Amino acid sequence: MAEAKPIAVLTSGGDAPGMNAAIRAIVKVAASRGVPVVGVENGYTGLREGRLRRLTREREGAVVPDGDMDALGAIGGTILGSARELRFHTKEGRAPAIDQLAQFAGLIVVGGNGSLAGAHALAHESATPIVGIPASIDNDVGCSGSAIGVDTALNTIVAACDKICDTARAHRRAFVVEVMGRDCGYLAMAGAIAAGADAVLFREQGRDEEAIVAAVERVIRDGFTRRGKQRVLVIKAEGVAVPCTRLVRLLEDRIGADLPGVDVRATVLGHLVRGGNPSFQDRMIAGRLGLAAVAAVLGGKTDVMAAWQSNAPGGIATSDPAVALHPLEQVLRESAALVDGSSPITKRRVQLMEQVEGMLGL
Ligand code: F6P
Repeated sequence: MAEAKPIAVLTSGGDAPGMNAAIRAIVKVAASRGVPVVGVENGYTGLREGRLRRLTREREGAVVPDGDMDALGAIGGTILGSARELRFHTKEGRAPAIDQLAQFAGLIVVGGNGSLAGAHALAHESATPIVGIPASIDNDVGCSGSAIGVDTALNTIVAACDKICDTARAHRRAFVVEVMGRDCGYLAMAGAIAAGADAVLFREQGRDEEAIVAAVERVIRDGFTRRGKQRVLVIKAEGVAVPCTRLVRLLEDRIGADLPGVDVRATVLGHLVRGGNPSFQDRMIAGRLGLAAVAAVLGGKTDVMAAWQSNAPGGIATSDPAVALHPLEQVLRESAALVDGSSPITKRRVQLMEQVEGMLGL
């Protein structure tokens, strides 16, 4: 009997902890249905080049995972590698990838907005089912209550801030800790609440440099004088245009003279926020989205994304009450709204942070 066409899976864009758990789920679910799986190495770059890696094999007439998939779900990053393939922005650039798709029963794309935009384009240029899974620590993917990687990133941010506060208290210091998130301030907002920050800065506040410096100076002064604090923690989203080191220098200039013994320091967490073994939450989300994505491909669905705890109308229900399929066109539209601030979700997040801003420093 001719072997069934394989499902292909690729990871694309910024890696996220939990991507490997999604790969594990896709392999196991497909194998349980007798469908082989191949991994595409290095995202869309590898798809263009046909760089495939077998993730299942036949044994005694059954399809089984090739190698130890069990450990895979606990490892950060992505075993397939990832890439930001700029040539995918044009139809010509996607053409070599389209040629590769005919050999697959479907393609599952695990990634953030840029990757899902590529999946949307492929779905319109190929008859092969294309299904997306949101994976981005930024949590800036529309329709999905969370993307894979967000929970682990937040755990990393909180753990790092706890460590920084240990030393800040020892020296009566203020720290500005910068976190990733690209243009989305979600990691900074949620991280600030969980880490007990005294203030949080995110692009969606729409403040200019003077307003930012004045706000942070006020929090630092209040913290060390009126509140008698031993440390002040400010979390800054990387989307805030003022560089962390410049912000600290401006604050030192304003405070250094009349707050003796108070230092202001900067820590940029950078790619630390993207590493680490995935949390329970990210492994669970990855597993359930992987199941839904395989079922969607085998059901002939295309140009959709499996969303976790969907926060948008019009999703197609799946066998999992927490997972719905949304058209990629809607996902990308909602993603753009999340970032440009027109989304009710962004407005609600900003309003909540405005409500608590005065309380954070108490
Ligand atoms: O999109 C995920 C992300 O980590 C962003 O938070 C960050 O701005 C960007 O990727 C960094 O991209 P790169 O790893 O290509 O420098």
